Amino acid sequence: MRPKHSDMMQKDCVRVAVRVRPFNKRERDAGSRCIISMVPSSITIQDPRDPQNRRSFCFDYTYWSHSGFIQDTTGKYLSEDTGGRYADQDTVFQDLGEGILENSLQGYNATLLAYGQTGSGKSYSMMGYGANKGLVPKLCERLFESIKENQDSRRCQVFFSMLEIYNEQVIDLLSRGSRAAGGLRVREEQHRGFYVEGLRTVPCETAQQVEQLTEQGMRTRTTAATHMNANSSRSHMLISLQLKQIFSKESTTKQSNINLVDLAGSERQKLSGSEADRLKEGTAINLSLTTLGNVISALADVAVGKKVVHIPYRESVLTKLLQSALGGNSRTVMIATLSPADICYEESLSTLRYAERAKRIQNRAVVNESPTERLVKELKAENVRLLQRLSRLGQEGRRASDETKELRQLLTHNELQIKAIQTLWEQHLQEALKDLEEQYANITKERRMMQMHPYILNINEDAQLSGVVKLFIQEGEWDVGLSDSSPKSISIKGLGIQEHHAVFRNEQRCVTLTPMARSKVIVNGNTVCQTTVLQHLDRLILGSNCTYLFIGFPSERTGDDWNCYDYDYFQAEVAAAEGIRLAESSPGSNQTDPSLLAVFYDYIKLMPMVTEANQMSQELHKGVEFKLEIKNLALSDSKGHDLKKDIVVRVTTLGNKQVWLWSKAKFINRKFLMEEMYQQHQAAQTEENKSESLCAATFTRDQDPFWDPVEPLLLGTAHLWLQTLAFRIPLEEQLEVLGSEGTEEAILQAQLVPCSSTGFPLSEDDILIDPSELLGRRLDFQLVLEQCCGLRWIREVHNRGVQVGFKLFDCPQPLYTPASWHNINPLLDHRTHFASLQTSQTLLDYLQSSAVVLELWGLQDGCTELTSCLDEMRMTPDSVFIIDKPGPTDQTSLDCELSSSFRVLQRDLEEMKSLNSLLKKENQNLREQFAARNSGRSGRPSCDAEFARALKVFYHSMTSVRGQLQRLRRHRPSEESDMVGLRFFVDEHGRLLRDFSEQLEDCVSKLKQDVAAIVRRKREKSELYM
Ligand SMILES: Nc1ncnc2c1ncn2[C@@H]1O[C@H](COP(=O)(O)OP(=O)(O)OP(=O)(O)O)[C@@H](O)[C@H]1O
Ligand SMILES: [Mg+2]
Repeated sequence: MRPKHSDMMQKDCVRVAVRVRPFNKRERDAGSRCIISMVPSSITIQDPRDPQNRRSFCFDYTYWSHSGFIQDTTGKYLSEDTGGRYADQDTVFQDLGEGILENSLQGYNATLLAYGQTGSGKSYSMMGYGANKGLVPKLCERLFESIKENQDSRRCQVFFSMLEIYNEQVIDLLSRGSRAAGGLRVREEQHRGFYVEGLRTVPCETAQQVEQLTEQGMRTRTTAATHMNANSSRSHMLISLQLKQIFSKESTTKQSNINLVDLAGSERQKLSGSEADRLKEGTAINLSLTTLGNVISALADVAVGKKVVHIPYRESVLTKLLQSALGGNSRTVMIATLSPADICYEESLSTLRYAERAKRIQNRAVVNESPTERLVKELKAENVRLLQRLSRLGQEGRRASDETKELRQLLTHNELQIKAIQTLWEQHLQEALKDLEEQYANITKERRMMQMHPYILNINEDAQLSGVVKLFIQEGEWDVGLSDSSPKSISIKGLGIQEHHAVFRNEQRCVTLTPMARSKVIVNGNTVCQTTVLQHLDRLILGSNCTYLFIGFPSERTGDDWNCYDYDYFQAEVAAAEGIRLAESSPGSNQTDPSLLAVFYDYIKLMPMVTEANQMSQELHKGVEFKLEIKNLALSDSKGHDLKKDIVVRVTTLGNKQVWLWSKAKFINRKFLMEEMYQQHQAAQTEENKSESLCAATFTRDQDPFWDPVEPLLLGTAHLWLQTLAFRIPLEEQLEVLGSEGTEEAILQAQLVPCSSTGFPLSEDDILIDPSELLGRRLDFQLVLEQCCGLRWIREVHNRGVQVGFKLFDCPQPLYTPASWHNINPLLDHRTHFASLQTSQTLLDYLQSSAVVLELWGLQDGCTELTSCLDEMRMTPDSVFIIDKPGPTDQTSLDCELSSSFRVLQRDLEEMKSLNSLLKKENQNLREQFAARNSGRSGRPSCDAEFARALKVFYHSMTSVRGQLQRLRRHRPSEESDMVGLRFFVDEHGRLLRDFSEQLEDCVSKLKQDVAAIVRRKREKSELYM
């Protein structure tokens, strides 16, 4: 059961609600599972990798908005059956909004915070979309209704303000003037607490006026975001309503502040330990949210009686402004929004933990008496006192003219002050009404224009800001770009937009777009350089990433649904033009591999960011180029099975061609920092017109997000399969080293040489028929890296070097060959001796199923060479690396299974051995030959030459099969493949892989048959002799 609103009044704990939204398109495409379940007041989340691992949380309110809904003709989402569990916008408002309204009418401050990862539904709950109005507009409607209902008993004044905090800067979203550089200042006063100096607060009398102001604020937010090249998901939006109620009869005044906060997306890009970035996270970008988390944690600790010395309110702008909302004079509600999908498990769990901490916070809300009203009372009281003194002076007949003059002056001053306070509202209201009228006229004009002319409509990554800006293309020729000097220009600000970027022509009911030289224009995914005729609903990208939908003439707009042209649509179209497509619509397939899908979405997410990073690099003269690459994870998997892919960003300096590979998370972090740098550069340029060198000077090279120390680069890998070692058969291979995108980086000549403990190569007679003979015995072998040929890395830039690294079985650290510089075909001649003193089943399994991954590392001028770290390695005095250290006895069922099959194998082996000795006894000649050959090697078990030969032939044929398999792995779709082609490639590839594994199986079973035949033959012979 949900608590009643009256409950909400009694306690001052922060109230917490959670809401789970429907799947979005990405999640549906990926075949996501819902991992959230709810019963009233309790929510359970399931770990998708471990379904037994469930965690439940209790909150004041839980809202199931994931399923069980229908959309009515107006687009409103409603529960599909009456009394259904679906929580629509009205339900959420009835619980949370009404409570906030009641609190504020009683004179309490009230705060509503929306917290959750990007795209989880914060703005949907707070602001709403279309017919699904959110808490803020509904609250305003109800507030003004309530004011109207009670207008006999009280007079009300409402002030509205709207601000954004981005990168610790406060931006006034209602400001009429140009934006102050560095944002507005946050100040502190003893009675008032923290406040934003110079923030525009607009008096309002109706909900429509508030709606109009919100629209204006959203427009400012959108243009500010494109102008600053900022992502709105990383900014916080704070709407404030100040409500003043004047009860004339009781001569009291109640005043309350309602803060409505749509917080920035809460997710973090996690950098794993191995790839931790030299530069900290974009500090200012996340400072407010991080500090909010710290404040909430500290307050939650206070609530459970822990000693907390310091609550870090002052460490960020957001927490300063929310100080009263958290642990102070406010009744506060938090709505935590969640994605239902398994792929968001970690973020959702973290949101729930955050919300759980928040609900412990205790506030101390009080009814507020207006300071202005108190001031009026005080001034009036003072006036009475002054008048009394004046009359006393008169009665006493004293002619103290100076004192009388002074008292009269004080009286006039006080009266003026009283008047000023009382007329402030009226004056402000008149001004605001004038403004609103003007704005309303503009809106009406815009609506009229929409019915007359074609226009372009902005599409933003944040759906909330899409469709906010409309730029009309009236008859004639229109210059589009940064410049707004002529009356026939359309001004667009954004990254990569030139002064004169392109020209729109609207002539004879046809609109064309002509890019200017060197300006980037993309239409429907394709770069255009010449005049292009625009069709209704064409997608335009101007500059790096200013995305617009072209809306044609009104007659062309019949019954279109424009919603499908969202930001992802634009990016997917550009990716498709680059040859990166999703195979979702290919015939005969109904589901795309989720891991491929994840890569695709990563790709389209990073693609515009890479374009922007390149543009910033160009404008800041950084001389660095970024490029997206898809990395094939099979290349570094010791079994070569991992078909997953990952996205990396290749960073190259234009001059000396130094190269880095950045992970996705590192790139995103760096991109935030680049934006910070770029914004400072822009501010410096526009504000004081200072040169770039001054801006660059504020960043030392160590802080420069475009720079990193030179480091060795993993160029590619080759797999050297170890199976022959299990039979003590030597192997010599010419391996192709493949780069992350399947390119041939070099040929590597390598050998595996089974040897004696002194490093002496074993002979053919030492070949084993049955690898299990090795169990418990010593195995020695050498890995020889002879030569690298045709190094692409060196061919490209001569001043480079290479090293080969490898890590075998349980070696704790990789080993590296010495560096070789400036040589395309360097002789490595590197030999490493490994030994297992007591070969275990695990090692045997490893040898039979795995490869040693040989990593080719590229060295660049100025980078430190890779060194083998021998500290944790076990070595004999003759520099033999010991592998296969005996581990603790395993109790798992798998190990039990292994040891039982091992016992069976041992029994078989014993049988075969006795059979063999029997046969030997029967064949005197053969025995003599063996004896002669084996003289001087007594005690060593002899091998059957026939078996050995069969095995050797088998493994050599296997090597060629493997070679073919490697080539198959390199098999790639052609650059021009379309979606169908790509799907065909994937199917073909899968089929070929299956064929090859079948071939391998055939080889093995053929060998088994051969062995069986040999044994049978020998048994028959022995029976003949019996
Ligand atoms: N309860 C819901 N019912 C239906 N659709 C929803 C719901 N919640 C969110 N959505 C949809 O999900 C998308 C993302 O939601 P929204 O814009 O509210 O996310 P957000 O949390 O504000 O993200 P950001 O941090 O990027 O601002 C929108 O298209 C929205 O319409
Ligand atoms: Mg949002």
